Amino acid sequence: MAAHYQVTGRGAAEIAASVEAGVRSGALGPGAALPPVRTLADSLGVATATVAAAYRGLRERGVVETAGRNGTRVRPRPPVASRVTRRVPAPPGTLDLSTGEPDRRLLPSLGPALRRLATTAAQPVAYADAGPWPALVEAARARFAADGVTAADLTVTAGTLDAVERLLASRLRPGDRVGIEDPAWANLIDLVAALGLHPVPIPVDDEGPTVDGLRRAVSAGVAAAVVTSRAHNPTGAYVTADRAARLRRVLAGAGDVLVIEDDHGAELAEVPLSTLAGPNRPWALVRSLSKPYGPDLRVAVLAGDAATVARVQGRMRLGSGWVSTVLQRLVVDLWNDEKVSATVARACQEYGRRRTALVEALARRGVPARGRTGINVWVSTSDESGAVAALRDLGYAVAPGSLYRLGSAPGFRISVGALELSDVDKLADGVLAAVGEVAVAPVTV
Ligand SMILES: Cc1ncc(COP(=O)(O)O)c(C=O)c1O
Repeated sequence: MAAHYQVTGRGAAEIAASVEAGVRSGALGPGAALPPVRTLADSLGVATATVAAAYRGLRERGVVETAGRNGTRVRPRPPVASRVTRRVPAPPGTLDLSTGEPDRRLLPSLGPALRRLATTAAQPVAYADAGPWPALVEAARARFAADGVTAADLTVTAGTLDAVERLLASRLRPGDRVGIEDPAWANLIDLVAALGLHPVPIPVDDEGPTVDGLRRAVSAGVAAAVVTSRAHNPTGAYVTADRAARLRRVLAGAGDVLVIEDDHGAELAEVPLSTLAGPNRPWALVRSLSKPYGPDLRVAVLAGDAATVARVQGRMRLGSGWVSTVLQRLVVDLWNDEKVSATVARACQEYGRRRTALVEALARRGVPARGRTGINVWVSTSDESGAVAALRDLGYAVAPGSLYRLGSAPGFRISVGALELSDVDKLADGVLAAVGEVAVAPVTV
C-alpha cells in the first residue's frame, strides 16, 4: 500500500478523483496498492459501497485493476499521465533487454528522405487536400497485394494502437468483450482496460492463437478479436497458413465479430503473412512502420472492409483529422528507396540471427524458450519475479511476464534489440542460473 498517500473524499466521485490525483502526482505509481475497500471506508467514515463504487469507476477507466487476493492496484500504464517519470533506468553496466525498442543501429537513416522532402513537400497542404495521401495508399495497396491481401479500402493512422483504438471504438462500447491473445502486447492490454472493455484471453502457441481459444472467445460473445499476424509480442509466434485456415473456419460461423490483425512485424518477420480476413465479414489489417523504420514515424496503414475503414477514417476526420501528409510522404519516399529497403532487409536478418542464437543457446542448456519471429524471446519459468530479479543481479534487465499475461503461465520476455551475438552465451548461462533447471515450467499454453 502507498502508506504516504492519503486517499480523501466523502462521495465516490471525490474518492476516485483523489486516487487519480495521486496517480497524476506520482504518489500512486504503477502497481501501487490501494487500501482495501473496508479499510478505506472506515478511515473516511463512508459506506463500503461508496468506496466500492469509486474503485469500480476507476477500474472501468483502466486506472486501477483488481486481481483477487492482490487487491486493487494502479495499472502498469494507467491512462492518466504522471508528473513523475517512473522508468527506473537500468543500473550502470546492465544490458537492458527489457524494452521492445528496435536497435537504432539497424534503423534506416531518415536524412536522405527528409532532404528530398524539403523540396517535394515544401508547399503547404490545405485542409481540403489532406487525408490519406494517395501515393501512400497506392504503395500500401501494392504491398498488401504482394502479401495476398486485396485491399480495396485503406486509410492511414498514427501507429498501431491509434488504429486499434479507433477500430474498437467503431463497434464496441464499454463493457463489451474483446478477444486478445494471452500473453499479449502489454500496451494493448492497457488500452483495452482504458476503453472499459473486457478482455477475453485467447491462448497463443507457436502457430498463433489456438483454435479452441478463438472458439471459446467467440462463444463468450466477443465483438472483436485482436490477433498478431507475425512477430507476436512477447512470444515471437506467427500465424501459420494451416492455423489461419482453421481460425477462418471458426470465424466463418462467428457472426460479425471484427477481426483486427496487427502485422507490425511484416518487414522484419522472415515468414509469409497468413490472414484471417474472409469475405462478407468485418476485418482490418494494420501495418505499422515503427519497428522497421523507427517508432517516431507514428504511421500505420490500415486495410479493411469498406464499412470498417470508412468508420475509422470518418471518425478521425472529426478529431485529429489525418496523419500529417509530411509524414505520409516521408513513408512513400522510404518505401521507394532501395538503400532503405536493403537496410530493413539487413535488420530482419540480424534480428533473426540474434533471436535464433538465443533460443538455441537456451535449448542447449535445457531452458525452453519461444521466439520464431520478430525481436522477442519468451522464457517460461515458475517464478517469474524471482527470475527477473536474479537476472538483474547478473546484469540483465528483462521484462516480467506479468505485464503481458492475462491467465497464461508465467515467464519473462527478452528483447534482442540491444543484444550482440557475442553476448548470447553469457546471457544464456545467466538465464539458466536465474530459472534453475527444476524451476522451468512446461512450454504448453
Ligand atoms: C504487437 C505490436 N504491435 C505493434 C507495435 C508497434 O506499435 P506502434 O505502431 O503503435 O508503434 C508493437 C511495438 O512494440 C507491438 O509490440
